Amino acid sequence: MHTSKPETKVHLGLSFGYHDSAVAVIASNGLILFAEHEERLSRVKHDNSFPINALKAAFNFLEKQSDYNILGVGYYELPQLKEARKILSNSSKFTAETLGEVDLDHIQKTISDTVRYQDYCIPARIRDALASVSGLDSSCIPIRPYEHHHSHAAGAFFTSPFKRASAITLDGAGEFETTTIWSCEKSNSSLTKIWSAELPFSLGLFYSAITSYLGFSVNEGEYKVMGLSAYGRPTFKKLLSSLITFDHGVAWIDTNYFDFSATATRLYTAKLQELLGVPPAGDTAWVNDISDECGTLSDHCQAYCDIAFSAQLLLTEIQAKLVRYAAHLNNCSALCLSGGVALNSLANLNTDRTIKGQLYVFPPSGDAGSAIGAAYLSLLSQSSHISWRSHLDSFDPFLGSEYTRDEYLDAITTGILSEAQTNQIIEIRGCEAKVAWLAKQLSQRKIVALHQGRGEFGPRALGNRSILASAYYPEMKEKLNVLIKKREPYRPYAPAIAAELAKTYFGQDIDNFSAHPSHPLRYMASVVQAEEEMREKYPSAIHYDRTARVQLLTQNINPILHQLSLHLENSLGCGILLNTSFNLGYEALVGDPYSAVNTLTWSRFDSALLGDFAIVFE
Ligand SMILES: [Fe+2]
Repeated sequence: MHTSKPETKVHLGLSFGYHDSAVAVIASNGLILFAEHEERLSRVKHDNSFPINALKAAFNFLEKQSDYNILGVGYYELPQLKEARKILSNSSKFTAETLGEVDLDHIQKTISDTVRYQDYCIPARIRDALASVSGLDSSCIPIRPYEHHHSHAAGAFFTSPFKRASAITLDGAGEFETTTIWSCEKSNSSLTKIWSAELPFSLGLFYSAITSYLGFSVNEGEYKVMGLSAYGRPTFKKLLSSLITFDHGVAWIDTNYFDFSATATRLYTAKLQELLGVPPAGDTAWVNDISDECGTLSDHCQAYCDIAFSAQLLLTEIQAKLVRYAAHLNNCSALCLSGGVALNSLANLNTDRTIKGQLYVFPPSGDAGSAIGAAYLSLLSQSSHISWRSHLDSFDPFLGSEYTRDEYLDAITTGILSEAQTNQIIEIRGCEAKVAWLAKQLSQRKIVALHQGRGEFGPRALGNRSILASAYYPEMKEKLNVLIKKREPYRPYAPAIAAELAKTYFGQDIDNFSAHPSHPLRYMASVVQAEEEMREKYPSAIHYDRTARVQLLTQNINPILHQLSLHLENSLGCGILLNTSFNLGYEALVGDPYSAVNTLTWSRFDSALLGDFAIVFE
């Protein structure tokens, strides 16, 4: 007897073209069904190409679940406006005096890009891909682009636990806007923009300029600068404060010191060097002089750390002013944050304290997460009567692809175990057995790779594509660094711990956690500040400035890791897990089991749990 599956009405969201391409699928009741980063499947870090692999994965997911009907597709920004900004940012230089400096090749390329990406082409490209991947007649599916910051705000608010809130979006740049404040209501599904700032004012690009000044890659090294600030002093704060300001809705930046044009690579001008009196770092070799036992830093190293600290302090202060201004405009203290700058977990600590835990940071705050926002905007273009009751639960970050036992087994047998090695492999099932096996591995000072369930959506590995070690052993940081991650030695690893144990280790800031079920401390989106004695005891997990990017584990979001933390607390006397992303330092996070096995073969893990298969490497 034929039984047809129920039809699910869905909206898709896509982000691509700049960095971190992604696809999201939401149901017409507002539930997020699926979201995947292209980079996890293409293995190209920050992949910005059309997310064809993520789209295929989305259709695979939908076909397994039910019959489906695509009601609409949202694209995460307005392509014409974005390209117009790129052209204008160059043509503003186009004067008789500066003609020789203008990059005519770039302008020519940008104009041809504009033709390629214009409003007409983006929908056509998406429509073609939908048809080729799914075989659907996509000609009648509405495909709509939305403002970049509208997509950021929608992703943040509609996944938040708040019925009413302000949303602040902060990034490098969208089309022209860089910072926006929204008034948000779930009762009528409304997002109303109440303030915005455009280029050249940009907190994201300001921080990227400092990142570049310190020798790191833009859009890659910002979080390392945040970590370096721990070793700095506010020596340059006054100077930097004279270059970028926000006061009661007036945002300003001195463009004599920054160059945010589309062709700029380092983002600052020679005048910034004159002002700071310290030459820009040509590379990042200087950070290798830093360690927790470093004592006094060399002069140039201290100066760079001071610049990092001063920039971080300034960012935190301006964010605090924006938060106060948003609360004033909107008469509401609950706050959603999104955009790339919202990934600055250190600034978020200050915000979290200020508004007493009424903070929600959209876990996939970067442009990939805007695929979810664009999908919501597509949904709301057709219906404003959404029941948001389910969103009172925690945000579920495990929205990506899931793999079968056969896929894991095939990857293992055709990968590492095809070679003549003496690796041990056993199949274990059930949460309890897996927890016992993982606890045994970590107690034996082993580094364990973990690939289970659906992949995380967002930049953080939250337990399903993770590398784990125990913080009980102080040497694990160096072991992780030397054998696998090849990270700068000054950076600690993020501690994951059962929520009920956290206050003992991480102190007063943990109280904010109980404010709501999607608090940023559940998603490594904020930090806490521990006592000095805890830093001395657990240096792998707590930074030089006593901050720790904690992940609070709960049974409903992370059942295995939650129980593992409790188990180790009892058996080892320390429930802190070091949790870092399952990849080598230069790679994108692993995607399918084949990429996981590939990463295992290229490094020196002690053991791995891939699905139900536990492997101990000899
Ligand atoms: Fe953005």
